[in-house]
Amino acid sequence: MSTTLSNLLHEVRRFEPPAELAAAANVGGAEYDTAARDRLGFWHRQALRLSWTQPWREILDWSNPPFAKWFVGGRLNVAYNCVDRHVAAGHGERVAIHWEGEPGDTRTITYADLLGEVSRAANALTALGVGQGDRVAIYLPMIPEAVVAMLACARIGATHSVVFGGFSAESLRSRVADAGAKLVITADGGYRRGKPSPLKATVDAAVADDTSVEHVVVVRRTGAEVDWTQGRDLWWHEVVDTASPEHEPESFDAEHPLFILYTSGTTGKPKGILHTSGGYLTQAAYTHDAVFDLKPETDVYWCTADIGWVTGHSYLVYGPLANGATQVMYEGTPDTPDRGRWWEVIERYGVTILYTAPTAVRTFMKWGSDIPARHDLSSLRVLGSVGEPINPEAWIWYRENIGGNRTPIVDTWWQTETGAIMISPLPGVTATKPGSAMDPLPGIAVDVVDRNGNPVGNGEGGRLVATEPWPSMARTIWGDDERFVRTYWSDLPGRYLTGDGAKRDQDGDLWLLGRIDDVMLVSGHNISTAEVESALVSHPRVAEAAVVGAADATTGQGIVAFVILRGDAARDESEGAALAGELRAHVATQIGAIAKPRQVIVVPELPKTRSGKIMRRLLRDVAENRPLGDVTTLQDSSVMDQISSGLSAGA
Ligand code: WT7
Repeated sequence: MSTTLSNLLHEVRRFEPPAELAAAANVGGAEYDTAARDRLGFWHRQALRLSWTQPWREILDWSNPPFAKWFVGGRLNVAYNCVDRHVAAGHGERVAIHWEGEPGDTRTITYADLLGEVSRAANALTALGVGQGDRVAIYLPMIPEAVVAMLACARIGATHSVVFGGFSAESLRSRVADAGAKLVITADGGYRRGKPSPLKATVDAAVADDTSVEHVVVVRRTGAEVDWTQGRDLWWHEVVDTASPEHEPESFDAEHPLFILYTSGTTGKPKGILHTSGGYLTQAAYTHDAVFDLKPETDVYWCTADIGWVTGHSYLVYGPLANGATQVMYEGTPDTPDRGRWWEVIERYGVTILYTAPTAVRTFMKWGSDIPARHDLSSLRVLGSVGEPINPEAWIWYRENIGGNRTPIVDTWWQTETGAIMISPLPGVTATKPGSAMDPLPGIAVDVVDRNGNPVGNGEGGRLVATEPWPSMARTIWGDDERFVRTYWSDLPGRYLTGDGAKRDQDGDLWLLGRIDDVMLVSGHNISTAEVESALVSHPRVAEAAVVGAADATTGQGIVAFVILRGDAARDESEGAALAGELRAHVATQIGAIAKPRQVIVVPELPKTRSGKIMRRLLRDVAENRPLGDVTTLQDSSVMDQISSGLSAGA
């Protein structure tokens, strides 16, 4: 990628950490050196944050790479660490979860309440014959029972597999089958955009045929009518509420499987990423403390991710609860009942730390800055971003309009496979650059390398790899060690291949460029989709952009850009052609003539997966005039129709 254009490297703005935050930060700059001098010693000390019933005899066993064992011989109970020990330390009355249902109903759950609920659920699961090593599928909306169910599994040594509540019956069926789940925990429904969504019916369809599933436990949330299979189906309130709130936690090996989480990827059968207990919890807890500067006594933390994604696992359940945090959990969408819902929640609970995704930030940009401006957001002190590159324009908008031009932004890079944050600024240490994830965290070793595995210099791009094992790394793909080795560890032996492109700027700071597959080859130049998108969004009229490379007889690939205009930009159809010309010229000035899109298409929406990632594959189908491929993982299935009808109307 040495010919990659360097638009992103032109960013010159720097934001120093606020002095007050820096002075009281959990982690100072010296930690980078300490950890680099003795990486294993550093992780040994981080593991001491947790409560173990038996100490480990070895920090890392890397004798059979890439199959790591961390904290060998150590034993702990993950749920005890997330709940009981805070109660034992006298914090039982601290709020663990301020839950907010979409229709406006609320629940306040203290750590003492959580202990009772998790214990009851653990007893109920045991009574249903679920034990150590069994798999439990969780298919729930964003309600407290989802957290309780995950922790109850952890408490009894069952391995959970959370399946996002928006997935279809077929996706659920294949995940249940792959994991061989014995039990499914679901609900009669959940609220999204003002409507109850049926979940139980999807489970019924998914487990209709011959499956490993013995029981389906159903939480009553919406009160909707559900079909019932006698003997198989049980109400949560009948089995859990009647169980004893006392449960003695057993301890499990540090490498005991904690959860499986399926990553859909763009092709092939979903991969069941396996995470284990001691190393995973250590890094989830450390990073949550260091990256968000969490002060459990005073902060109110809010991660907006769904528990169906790894962000929900590590930064809504395991990290924050291991750290004794007080957090907000919200069931619904940001535009219900109106587009100010999140800001209203922040104001009401006095949220101090917000962790969300660039796609949400760009949506709010599109809706206009007057909406957050109507709310008092002055409680916020740290803002986080995750999921895809955050372009400088969105970064600045987030800082100015949500962070009052005062809060640090931590752009956190990681993956389902890495289990926890790997690259991020530290809010009390790093002078940030909008759009850069900056540096690997203390104790983490990554590099940017060329095709042959040689490190690139500053100012160069290449493939992002991890060069040393880390505690929360995936241990394997469930049931397929060979695929684990082939997918992540074969191309460059000894190094973990992230699949992402990255660039180091002149200071050596890291800029993530998206998946390597998203790099375009135009007239022999490698151009990353992220760079062109970033240039487009820096134009005042563009809210969001997605760029793809389409086959081109002359240039190999031609750049096709799909753009959504900003809410406050006038929408005059006749002006479309002029605007397209203006945007092409804008990209040329921002990056260079070579990156000028062949075509700019104004669209009302972009096709996204349910986790908010743009499905470039579908846009490539449009750009190359092909019938659309598989659209089943689309968040909103009508989007492609809207795009296609817009195209024919414009033609
Ligand atoms: C992929 C992993 C990490 C939890 C949510 C997504 C992209 C993630 C960033 C970031 C640029 C990012 C990468 C990565 N990604 N965070 N801060 N900057 N890109 O987990 O579904 O496993 O996706 O998301 O491409 O490989 P995931």
